[in-house]
Amino acid sequence: TTIIPDGFTVRRIDSRDFDGAKVALAGLTTVGEISQEDFNSILGYWDSVLLPNGKQAYNTFVITAKETEKVAAIGTVFVEKKIIHNGGLVGHIEDIAVNSDFRGQKLGKVLINYLSSIGKQLGCYKIILDCDEKNVGFYEKCDYNKAGIEMQIRY
Ligand code: ACO
Repeated sequence: TTIIPDGFTVRRIDSRDFDGAKVALAGLTTVGEISQEDFNSILGYWDSVLLPNGKQAYNTFVITAKETEKVAAIGTVFVEKKIIHNGGLVGHIEDIAVNSDFRGQKLGKVLINYLSSIGKQLGCYKIILDCDEKNVGFYEKCDYNKAGIEMQIRY
């Protein structure tokens, strides 16, 4: 089990996290024009996508500061059902961001450990992620190893 640092809570994302999620994710990439209504409908969509075992495929969690309810960190583990590996499940860690005011307090590592344990509990045989070279050291501290090369086509 993951130990959550004093003063912080981890929970599934909800509609209250609209501003905090956008601020944290802006430290990762372009968020764009997302209204509270858009945000709520994305969360509703995420809630609706179920794996064959009835569990949710989209698992986006936030670490919030207990006193202020501010979003200190956000991240997702998306679980994919495959044919291979006997119809196995693969977890994909996506969109990890620690609000710049909260970096360097181990919250990123806590969040990765938490999301990884959710993926493991859901039955994933592996969990994978893509990151920039500059974040390799961070993920190694979270027990991830380099494997493969990312390829992409952009539109
Ligand atoms: N390179 C090497 N080591 C690092 C790095 C890094 N870039 N960042 C942190 N570490 C180390 C820390 O020193 C610490 O080491 P220690 O346990 O020996 O003391 C350990 O990793 C854990 O660090 P945390 O304090 O948990 O890191 P933090 O909470 O600051 O979060 C993160 C790190 C998520 C990379 C943060 O800097 C951030 O949000 N950056 C901007 C967005 C981003 O790049 N997100 C990742 C995108 S990849 C993806 O989403 C799959």
